[in-house]
Amino acid sequence: MSRAAIAVLAGDGTGPEVTAQAVEVLQRVGELFHHTFTFQHCLVGLAAVKADGEAISVDTLGACARSDAILFGAVGGTLHEGAGPRPELALSRLRTTFDLYANIRPIKPFEALDLASPLRSEYLKGTDMVFVRELSAGLYYGHLETVAGKPSEIRRRGAQLEAIDTLTYTESEIERVVRTAFEIAGRRGRRLTSVDKANVLSSSVLWRRVVDRVARDHPAVTYEHMLVDTCAMRLIRSPADFDVLVTENLFGDILTDAASMLTGSIGMLPSASLGARRTEHGLFGLYEPVHGSAPDIAGLNLANPIGTILSAALLLRYSLGLHREAAAVETAVEEVVQAGYRTADIHYCDQSESTVVGTRELGRQIRDRLRP
Ligand code: NAD
Ligand code: IPM
Ligand code: MN
Repeated sequence: MSRAAIAVLAGDGTGPEVTAQAVEVLQRVGELFHHTFTFQHCLVGLAAVKADGEAISVDTLGACARSDAILFGAVGGTLHEGAGPRPELALSRLRTTFDLYANIRPIKPFEALDLASPLRSEYLKGTDMVFVRELSAGLYYGHLETVAGKPSEIRRRGAQLEAIDTLTYTESEIERVVRTAFEIAGRRGRRLTSVDKANVLSSSVLWRRVVDRVARDHPAVTYEHMLVDTCAMRLIRSPADFDVLVTENLFGDILTDAASMLTGSIGMLPSASLGARRTEHGLFGLYEPVHGSAPDIAGLNLANPIGTILSAALLLRYSLGLHREAAAVETAVEEVVQAGYRTADIHYCDQSESTVVGTRELGRQIRDRLRP
């Protein structure tokens, strides 16, 4: 039996809806496998801006620091919404506070959902990849002011305004995430694709050099360099060719949203953000679906909770070392999908044998299939 403290930051829009389902899944895992999980719910995003004047308070960061892991929903509203700090700053604060530099995003379509993807099923066959997105540097941190909570710098230049974002990487920032990616590749299909823009960007030239150097420590892993524009094309043309991919922060953000459609919906993808900080049985981490707050469907019980529930499975595996429990959650999700239950985003219009259900019903179906 294990004990674990989990900070729950549900956030905005559909965040609370999908997070509630993942918490109930974790509670059921606790009952079935005899673990005691405690959940501390904290404000984040727009709600925190309203209550505390900032996207995440020092108290909430403290509660996260006292936890083994963070379960995160989503933050943000529509872009024009409100004055004050942007709710998305909460994520930057969490990522920098805990130095979460490796964002792991597995992408493996379920066969039963092949019609939900806009790609024909013969293109999807055998697709099973893991993105390792660098999360601590790059364009996102081009201005310290952005991280500290002020808007990024827009200034006057002659008759017009200009804005600057810089893309900086140090060798060690590249090396640590590349090492993580080689290690993951070593435990999987032993193939790594490093994605960059070395035909244009200096940071990418350095990135390649570091990858070549780290590769010497991993002779069993075959690796290649690929330009990011080519990668975007090949992810759609031949997704099954990829095993592990490692890339710069913004490239990884964009490529994974695009690649999510291989699974049928952005609502399917989980993620784990990890650093060097340890827990008793693994690594401290932040676990969240790849999608955002989906304000267009908030409050309607329409959001797909699978990305968040699969993120809870990653939490069990990476932060709590509970591998059987993580697999039980993943199996329950697969069974529900095979049984034909779908939220609207993964329902294909001609599939008369599938049942369209809401967020809560899909969560319940998954919980009911959990087996120790
Ligand atoms: P989004 O991911 O919220 O939504 C994009 C589209 O996908 C929408 O049509 C939405 O309805 C759909 N979608 C998203 N999640 C879904 C789910 N679980 N089930 C079914 N459909 C789903 O992206 P956006 O609309 O560009 O951004 C909305 C807000 O979310 C913005 O403020 C943005 O900054 C924020 N955001 C937050 C995070 C995060 O908290 N990690 C991630 C991405 C975007
Ligand atoms: C994500 C999101 C965030 C990012 C935003 C909301 C800051 O899109 O987690 O993918 O770009 O990192
Ligand atoms: Mn994103």
